[in-house]
Amino acid sequence: MIEINNLHLTFNKGEANEVNVLRGINLEIKAQEFVVLVGANGSGKSSLLNALAGTVTPDKGTIKIEGKDITHLKEYERSKFLSRIFQNPLQGTAPDLSILDNFRLASLRTQSKHLHIGINQNFKDLVREKIRTLNLGLEDKWQQPMGTLSGGQRQALTLLMATMDDCKIMFLDEPTAALDPKSSAIVMEKANEIISTNHLTALLITHQLKDALKYGNRILMMEEGVISKDIHSEEKSFLKMEELFGWF
Ligand SMILES: Nc1ncnc2c1ncn2[C@@H]1O[C@H](COP(=O)(O)OP(=O)(O)OP(=O)(O)O)[C@@H](O)[C@H]1O
Ligand SMILES: [Mg+2]
Repeated sequence: MIEINNLHLTFNKGEANEVNVLRGINLEIKAQEFVVLVGANGSGKSSLLNALAGTVTPDKGTIKIEGKDITHLKEYERSKFLSRIFQNPLQGTAPDLSILDNFRLASLRTQSKHLHIGINQNFKDLVREKIRTLNLGLEDKWQQPMGTLSGGQRQALTLLMATMDDCKIMFLDEPTAALDPKSSAIVMEKANEIISTNHLTALLITHQLKDALKYGNRILMMEEGVISKDIHSEEKSFLKMEELFGWF
């Protein structure tokens, strides 16, 4: 599904503050794998995700998705099959627009041929039905501006928006870091549910080691721009908190 070969990324090349953020990443992620990525601050986790999403351009190496080389594909072109959830619930949504309009935007993002979607009653019903599945009582608030919701509510809706199109891959970069423990738990449960029911291939970055143990079927550790540990399904299920903690 995702194939990364010898990926290198350097910031401020040739300057005094040059930093080699990715130093030869090789990684293959199979379809419907749910990979958790852990590692110390500054180890390059977000940079790897940014390179996969097209926010930054690597200086060496290739990225393939379903066999197709996308290393130089523009970020917006990748958004057809790839969605991202960020640490800050404000990112990725339009705070002044209503919930419904945010869902419209999410759909239009990749379905430019179906502009009529925006004025369709069916669309409104579809969105309300989807929101109802969250069980957060938000289905009757579809006219409310996104910015008036709590971080947890917004993050749950953002997850749902990612399922409005042909998204096959979901990247989550510390999606619960700004949330209280209860909202974090709800959002992680929703994310897990959405990933499995939509058969998504997912990559989750987290500093919550409990979540790293609980979710996903593979765990990677990043250290100074390389992947230093890679543990698959069965072995991951035996992984203990103390051992994981010892990685740091
Ligand atoms: N745009 C940039 N310009 C210069 N340096 C950058 C840039 N983005 C990231 N870096 C540097 O690259 C290194 C890796 O950063 P990155 O954000 O990938 O780490 P991370 O593993 O996600 O850390 P954290 O757990 O704190 O989120 C850091 O030293 C950071 O300062
Ligand atoms: Mg980061």
